[in-house]
Amino acid sequence: MKALAVRPGVRNSAYIADIPEPKVTDIPDGRGILVRTLQVGVDATDGEINEGLYGRAPAGDSHLVLGHEVFGVVEEVGPNVKHLKKRDYCTCTVRRPGPTLFDKIGRNDITSHPEYYERGINLLHGFMTHRFVEDAEFVVKVPGGLNHLGVLSEPASVCAKAIEQAYLAQQRLQVWKPKLAFVTGAGQIGLLTTMMLRLRGLDVFTLARTPNPGLKADIVRAYGAKYVSTKETPMGELVKQVGRPDLIIEATGSSQVAFECMEHLNLNGAMVWTSVTGGKHELSGFPSDKVNLEWVLGNKLLLGSVNGNRDHFAQGIADLALGEVMFPGITSRMLTTPIDGFMDPQAVLHELENKSAIKVYVNVARD
Ligand code: BGC
Ligand code: ZN
Repeated sequence: MKALAVRPGVRNSAYIADIPEPKVTDIPDGRGILVRTLQVGVDATDGEINEGLYGRAPAGDSHLVLGHEVFGVVEEVGPNVKHLKKRDYCTCTVRRPGPTLFDKIGRNDITSHPEYYERGINLLHGFMTHRFVEDAEFVVKVPGGLNHLGVLSEPASVCAKAIEQAYLAQQRLQVWKPKLAFVTGAGQIGLLTTMMLRLRGLDVFTLARTPNPGLKADIVRAYGAKYVSTKETPMGELVKQVGRPDLIIEATGSSQVAFECMEHLNLNGAMVWTSVTGGKHELSGFPSDKVNLEWVLGNKLLLGSVNGNRDHFAQGIADLALGEVMFPGITSRMLTTPIDGFMDPQAVLHELENKSAIKVYVNVARD
């Protein structure tokens, strides 16, 4: 069976590998689910892995099968699988348990072990292939009515976790009713976060470099948020116009922007960093004394959020569904760049450089 793989650490190494066909019995105790892959999303993390900047091969292998954003259909289930059956649509979580207490309670997403196991990213093969088998514990049902957005389940889980973490952490304040939010970045994470914060009733400004007008700006507006091109209105200017945000969710992929945001958060505010920055950029000219003072005097909170567990997938999928009711047909406008099959690996990864692409994804098979 063919799969799209890379040699981690080697730049532009994506190639077509031959891998063994999976069987439902590869997973013990009748808990296996054999899934036929329908679509696999590609994101900046895949780009960084193909650049050789990020990701590792499983122990004993020199290659890593890519793909961590999967949408598929169940082909066969083991006798002990209860929550999914043949023909159901599904997605999978990405991170698998390590050795810590958090992993044992189903919170692989907050493992305290320095080594983390992620399918298609780190130490485990991914989903960019025709079939795969997975333990029922990590397979999440996607309702049939949402199959057109199923490939967004994984990014939606990342957004749902980031928002959940902010609200949980802000319980420190005893009362927190955020009104104004900034989302930085208008890629898939920025746009889905914009939608989810609108569903929670916040006044949302989504900031990105891309000039206005354009598809990203249109989607933001259709969600009832405001799009701000930072080329026209830098964040400091926007703050003068609308005030400081109570919540910032940072998703630009730029550590520089992540730090810049620190200058603008409101008193008692929370900021969540979600960008995975595999590069080596260093920041100079940052007003660290000023920011340090303001953060201390303002009781501000910064938290990092990565990945998502089963519950975040369920929340993300529920939000995608509610989003379809509140903003019909808008989220699918993100699905800009389908690719027919993965047999031309460099072409798949090349699309990530396409500035007008929001979501790049591979149609692996038709249902
Ligand atoms: C994935 C997450 C993962 C993170 C870090 C992201 O692209 O969507 O699931 O935890 O990369 O590897
Ligand atoms: Zn990702």
